[in-house]
Amino acid sequence: MFFNFSVKYLTLFIMKKEFVSFLIICIISTSLMGQQPSGQPQGTQAPDILIGAGTNNTDLIYRVNGRDGKLYQAYLGSKLNETSALLKARDAGHQAYPVFGTGNLFEPALRMTHNDGNTSLELKYTSHNSEKPDPNVTLTNIVLKDPVYPVEVTLHIKTFAREDVIEQWVEIVHREAKPATIFIYASSMLHFDAEKYWLTQFHGDWAEEMKIQESELTSGIRIIDTKLGTRAHMYQTPVFFLALNEKSDENSGEVVAGTLGWSGNFQFLFEIDEKNSLRVRSGINPYASEYSLQPGKKFRTPSFIFTWSGQGKGTASRNLHGWARNYGLLDGTKPRFTLLNNWETTYFDFNEQKLSGLIDDTKKMGLDVFLLDDGWFANKYPRNNDRAGLGDWQENKAKLPNGLGYLVKEADSKGVKFGIWIEPEMVNPKSELYETHPEWVLRYPNRSEVYYRNQLTLDLSNPEVSEFVYNMVDGMLAKNPGIAFIKWDCNSMIMNPYSAYLKDKQSHLYIDYVNNLYNVLDRLRKKYPHLPIMLCSGGGGRVDYGALRYFTEFWASDNTDPLERVYIQWSYSYFFPSVSVCNHITSWGKQTLKFRTDVAMMGKMGYDIQVNELTEKELKFSQDAIANYKRLSEVIWKGDLYRLVSPHESNRAVLMYVNESKSKAVLFAYTLNSRYGEVFNRVRLQGLDPAKTYKIEEINVSTEGRRMGPSESGRSYTGDYLMKIGMNVGSATPLTSAVYEISE
Ligand code: GLA
Repeated sequence: MFFNFSVKYLTLFIMKKEFVSFLIICIISTSLMGQQPSGQPQGTQAPDILIGAGTNNTDLIYRVNGRDGKLYQAYLGSKLNETSALLKARDAGHQAYPVFGTGNLFEPALRMTHNDGNTSLELKYTSHNSEKPDPNVTLTNIVLKDPVYPVEVTLHIKTFAREDVIEQWVEIVHREAKPATIFIYASSMLHFDAEKYWLTQFHGDWAEEMKIQESELTSGIRIIDTKLGTRAHMYQTPVFFLALNEKSDENSGEVVAGTLGWSGNFQFLFEIDEKNSLRVRSGINPYASEYSLQPGKKFRTPSFIFTWSGQGKGTASRNLHGWARNYGLLDGTKPRFTLLNNWETTYFDFNEQKLSGLIDDTKKMGLDVFLLDDGWFANKYPRNNDRAGLGDWQENKAKLPNGLGYLVKEADSKGVKFGIWIEPEMVNPKSELYETHPEWVLRYPNRSEVYYRNQLTLDLSNPEVSEFVYNMVDGMLAKNPGIAFIKWDCNSMIMNPYSAYLKDKQSHLYIDYVNNLYNVLDRLRKKYPHLPIMLCSGGGGRVDYGALRYFTEFWASDNTDPLERVYIQWSYSYFFPSVSVCNHITSWGKQTLKFRTDVAMMGKMGYDIQVNELTEKELKFSQDAIANYKRLSEVIWKGDLYRLVSPHESNRAVLMYVNESKSKAVLFAYTLNSRYGEVFNRVRLQGLDPAKTYKIEEINVSTEGRRMGPSESGRSYTGDYLMKIGMNVGSATPLTSAVYEISE
């Protein structure tokens, strides 16, 4: 790879612009080079090499330093006109994947102990290549090797040109005589040199997911992580924004939006060094997770997915949404079902007759699927509350004497589909499963068990247990091929992190669990590639793109109070497309049915209410709203999202979706509160075509609640007018809402 010229800057080749993501420029720059690279004959100088991994609007460029043979991150940011100029920099950049023990004094991306006890690593560039799985995607693989130990690390960088998204993961393999131990194994290390850094993080708990916090990073280390194992994202969601120099807002500022595709313990580490450079390390949380790696066995990290935006968080979100729909979320561009769920209307208390009535209600409302929630299984210890029965996946004979098959047929005969809730990774101590297989349960043999929601986690690191989970789901689907929807729940953290199966490898538990869960899901997806499955975890306790490869949608929170939901859904919308976010209309909160409906409609709408308690008027309103939703769902699910007025900065929240051809938009406006005399000015729209004329029609109109202020319904304006002058939306009455259909 190294050349021996003395020309100052020689560009060997630059690919055409549309292939810039596959940019490789070799430049000889002897005058800038001091020492000899290791292994380089005296008097010769290895050239520096640039390896580009860019998208349409972003460049991530690595530089191999001829002097030391190491790989550096030379640039990350807005697309450069002239990449080769990077070679003029005296400093090659920051080591792309720094290791422990050979000069790096800050947090490493990789730390390992060799089987002879030596703790050091040194990684030198060996080779790289690129693949093009499709015209929009480039996969660049950069191989690094240790000159002393047979350790090989491959950095994988997958770029999605159109979406401006970059995915990174790493493979680690060694060929030492005996196993070696890896202690830190990052998916990605990114470096930034800005004046200031602003971190936005998302945290919460049951029913209060995704609370947002922004703060300036200071010198030293900030860590965002979880140690929960399962239901791993209950307190911290694996997403962040990093704004450079200044705080970013919706439409301006340099910002990186990052997320880790890993359903277990994750860690984001932000370290500012003495020169105010920031390194961001993303990956599996190394906490209690040193991993003993067999010779020749590849350790693959999960993917870190990020986008860089020079125009604030709005663009960053739209980039991630586009990527998720096309690549990150199962069937992201396909339609979704609307549901009636029975959880909040019956809890565990139902029988065939009651369910039959709910199936009728599903039809009456115009919904697609009736989803039967928790409580349908277990006989010795019936699942009549959350203290018993988990793990015993046989229909409860008292509630369902004719089994699931009967309900599937019943639904089918009424023209709706049937869906079912499961929680296959968990067990109640009061269950036959626990009695027969205590060794399948994560628990300490010599200590009392610690419970969360009266349950324990099964040991998915044990292949027998993952086989049980696979067979349970596969068996249920094989027996009832009419099942058209699954809600897959996971209600406990790993409270007793001990696996009887792993013996002296306990520190593998958190990693093996997630990988085996993915294996189960992989196998299920091979057999049932398109069955819609909702990812749920006691609300939003498991929301990440590692899982969403297998799931069509996720349950954002058990909190369905629409006032709360405005904030929760707002936060999720930063990273996840609306087609993936399940919002149900329930009886949480005291708001009008209209307000509840309008809030649920901004994502994947469903219901969990007593349909038979609706008045005639409410029923008609709901049926019309469902029909509106079905008509507009393509725009809501696939359109570009513009967050116009933030509930964090105002007493209202306004957002809109615009379809690709800019011929149709849907605008949602929620008035959350208002002070006496508060004026809500016009809102300027975004994303429309200035030259087009749009007709505005208010939909989901209801006489419920008070309305004030002029409605724009029936008026027409140009896109230019709407984007520069704006339109009146909603009213000043607290807890009211308006939905507008905006059509060319
Ligand atoms: C979790 C889910 C709920 C419901 C219950 C059933 O809490 O988030 O939606 O399914 O489990 O036990």
